Amino acid sequence: MSFDRSIKIAPSILSADFANFGQEIQAVEAEGADWIHVDVMDGHFVPNITFGPSTCKAIRPHIKGVMDVHLMISPVDQYIDAFAESGADFITAHLEAGPHIHRTLQAIRATGAKAGLALNPGTPVEAAKGLLDDVDLVCIMTVNPGFGGQKFIRSQVEKVRTLRAMIGDRPVHIEIDGGVDPTTAPLVAEAGADVLVAGSAVFKGGSVSNSNPYGENIRAIRAAAQSALR
Ligand code: DX5
Ligand code: ZN
Repeated sequence: MSFDRSIKIAPSILSADFANFGQEIQAVEAEGADWIHVDVMDGHFVPNITFGPSTCKAIRPHIKGVMDVHLMISPVDQYIDAFAESGADFITAHLEAGPHIHRTLQAIRATGAKAGLALNPGTPVEAAKGLLDDVDLVCIMTVNPGFGGQKFIRSQVEKVRTLRAMIGDRPVHIEIDGGVDPTTAPLVAEAGADVLVAGSAVFKGGSVSNSNPYGENIRAIRAAAQSALR
């Protein structure tokens, strides 16, 4: 099968109801989500704390599609096996999280999971150059990691364009994380991104008891992104 570069919408459960992850995941998948993005924060690498591998394991049975785990933790390596065992399809680590990112990416792939490399807004995209054969996904952060609902950093769009050219024919996804909504999605889609993470823009206006807005929000982001590709 050829590599899927079509636009994929990945709701971040950081903006979901933390007491009802299972229902929230089922609702966004029923409303058209392609991947489920799971933000793990340690209060050390980023100034916020979410949850760890046991929560990932608990929510896995509720995810029909791809479970995309974004590790905003440092150190990473000693936790890789636990996140792989929790059922993650993609495990993404930050380049800035330690001195040995190549080892980390190899360790992720050794578990059978797909390896993702995330770059903070302050990190030049050229830093990914020597790693492109060792990753399945590069995540360009378009906010500083730690919180949902922040403003999209426009200067990152050129990094996406450069990355797209660097990747060439390699089967590597370009994921965008932070501030994605119907106004910013076309910018990154046109520059070459295929996985769009969106937290607040997906969950806004809805709730566990009223998930219709999730579908409207997902369709609006997808339509805006696809309009940039025509
Ligand atoms: C930020 C997280 C994001 C976040 C995105 O540190 O990695 O996944 O949930 O949220 P929005 O879409 O609200 O910017
Ligand atoms: Zn994320």
